[in-house]
Amino acid sequence: MEQLRWIRCPVTRSELQCTVIETTSKTLDGIEYEFIKTAILYGEGCWFYPVIDGIPRLIVEACVDYSTMLRKYVSDYDERMAIIQTRYGAFLKQVIKNNRHTKASFSQEWSLYNYETDKTWDLDTNGMMERFLKETHESESSIKGKFVFDAGCGNGKLNLILADKGVQNVAMDFSLSICRAHDRITSSRVLFIQGDVQFPPVPFETFDIVHSSGVLIAKRNTELSLSCIETAVKPGGKLSTWSYQPRKDLIHNVFNQVRRVSSKLPVRLQYYLYAITLLPISYTIKRLKGNKQNVREMMIDILDWFSPQYRWEHTQSEVQVWYKKRNYRDIQITDDNMWGFNMTGTKNLN
Ligand SMILES: C[S@@+](CC[C@H](N)C(=O)[O-])C[C@H]1O[C@@H](n2cnc3c(N)ncnc32)[C@H](O)[C@@H]1O
Repeated sequence: MEQLRWIRCPVTRSELQCTVIETTSKTLDGIEYEFIKTAILYGEGCWFYPVIDGIPRLIVEACVDYSTMLRKYVSDYDERMAIIQTRYGAFLKQVIKNNRHTKASFSQEWSLYNYETDKTWDLDTNGMMERFLKETHESESSIKGKFVFDAGCGNGKLNLILADKGVQNVAMDFSLSICRAHDRITSSRVLFIQGDVQFPPVPFETFDIVHSSGVLIAKRNTELSLSCIETAVKPGGKLSTWSYQPRKDLIHNVFNQVRRVSSKLPVRLQYYLYAITLLPISYTIKRLKGNKQNVREMMIDILDWFSPQYRWEHTQSEVQVWYKKRNYRDIQITDDNMWGFNMTGTKNLN
């Protein structure tokens, strides 16, 4: 698996040893390739992760989330788990507890998305590419040849577009949105992986651009997420992050109070609750304003706001300081609207 060099153990950041179980062939860019469909990836020490349906599942808690599959193929599964429990039991328990809701809420959100018909945040293919270039302060020509890490890729549509346009990229998400995205790959220039921004399963200082749009705010501590993810930017490379910003808007802030309570409910219950309360209101208001979003797109917007466990809002000066103290220069706001802003910075050469 040539793409093994792009991934690492999320805990130790060590290289991964791969035991292949099953391969499959796929035609990409008109060439037939042999791909790993099922495998086990071994990190340093006791950590191990599965490749399922061609996707490396590189989250810390993979040994528990995918225990059925791992038990089947890892003959010393119980012994390995006993070592992990002895050495890291409390850490693993905490990670599982912290992440359960976020994975479930975003998996539900993206399961609604229809790749054939739906727009992403109101944008079609061209609009998504334009937005990415604007946010990262790049152009169609400058992006060519750059290696991109998209940390929190959502439905993966942007990553498929980038690959089609010749841009090599690693697309990571915490949720199972990566599965349907992976099924749509037509180019070898994109690798979908499951991973967590606070445990990036990629090599240090490797990417020309690390882009994370609307993701870092979904963990308990946004600055810690930024701190973890920026380690993947190579010296002279670019960090690009999009964050929500506070709004002086009564309705917005009332809704934020509502989500503080409603986001604690089971994710499936939230879906039905919002479908009979917020969706009809949103539908009526949007239609009156001439917005042509379909019902699925509206529901994704609603879930994206109300369902995640965390959805922090930050000021531009606050985020600017996070970049500065991590030795970034040329810090600029590349996009700014009422919801949030995108900031880029260049990592200083040491
Ligand atoms: C608002 S969506 C944005 C998706 C995409 N960046 C975009 O702009 O369309 C946030 C995404 O972040 C992902 N996410 C949330 N927490 C994450 C984490 N800790 N690590 C990786 N991805 C995460 C969610 O699964 C979701 O797909």
